[in-house]
Amino acid sequence: MENRFAKKFSLAGKAAVITGASGMLGRKHTLALLELGAIVVMTDIDINSLVQAKKELKDSFPAGEIEILPMDVTSEKSVESVYEKIQGMGLRVDVLINNAAINPTASSLVGSVRTTRLENFSIDRWNKELDVGLTGTYLCSKVFGTAMAFDGKGGVILNIASDLSVIAPDQNLYRQEGLDDSLQAVKPVTYSVIKTGLVGLTRYLSSYWADKGVRANALSPGGVYIDQDREFVTRLEQLIPMGRMAQPDEYIGAIQFLCSDASAYMNGQNIVMDGGRSVI
Ligand SMILES: NC(=O)c1ccc[n+]([C@@H]2O[C@H](COP(=O)([O-])OP(=O)(O)OC[C@H]3O[C@@H](n4cnc5c(N)ncnc54)[C@H](O)[C@@H]3O)[C@@H](O)[C@H]2O)c1
Repeated sequence: MENRFAKKFSLAGKAAVITGASGMLGRKHTLALLELGAIVVMTDIDINSLVQAKKELKDSFPAGEIEILPMDVTSEKSVESVYEKIQGMGLRVDVLINNAAINPTASSLVGSVRTTRLENFSIDRWNKELDVGLTGTYLCSKVFGTAMAFDGKGGVILNIASDLSVIAPDQNLYRQEGLDDSLQAVKPVTYSVIKTGLVGLTRYLSSYWADKGVRANALSPGGVYIDQDREFVTRLEQLIPMGRMAQPDEYIGAIQFLCSDASAYMNGQNIVMDGGRSVI
């Protein structure tokens, strides 16, 4: 029997911009939207990685329509120039996924200083990481969201946050026996601030252009398993009711739902997909 509702998921004839698209999850978000028929404009600061990502995606999905454009989300000029290039291609951006981030490692021992610890965290690093994760999302939402709002057609903004948008990091995950407290690795403060800030920005955007048909939501993924240190993984698994980290493909369904008309009445929400970690 035909599923008449399935067409709500279609993005045929629509274009989507993804930031940080050549990264691990950016490629999956791209695939998610290609599968729905969208033309995907993959943007990233790393052009070589974009070229490689396009090649790999075309190999696995030859019919997919992919454009690649270098874009630094921290530069308004760069974002505006990409907006103009996309217009020049005759495309109208219907979907924006703000995914770019500097994903900090918890380690970062420089000499005998643990630079990720709050006591030692530098203002330069704070500014750099907030610039990409938070300011970048604001700039892209401003430029592409304004265009969505004012040509009468609306659109969708999806901000990629993290389970750390709703819970504090558990610093015991990174603890190493025998190390002095001052040298223990920690998840940096910026990550929590950025991801929580993105939820606030999402709420702001969701009411700001709602009357112009622009919806904004956030997706908060839990950690993806990519062969991390076994002890870290074992500890993390104990915090997750489902007892495991996510597979890279497991957010594809949520991306498809949140970026299409299947979620037409969802606005301003933070969808947490974390195997249940944040509810215990
Ligand atoms: N991987 C996970 O387990 C996980 C879990 C929860 C949330 N997330 C979030 O998902 C998103 C993607 O994560 P990922 O694991 O694919 O990370 P990733 O590091 O593989 O990808 C991030 C991408 O952002 C790009 N980038 C960095 N600075 C940029 C800038 N100034 N302008 C444009 N692009 C820039 C990088 O070049 C990279 O391709 C991030 O927002 C991350 O915080 C990831």
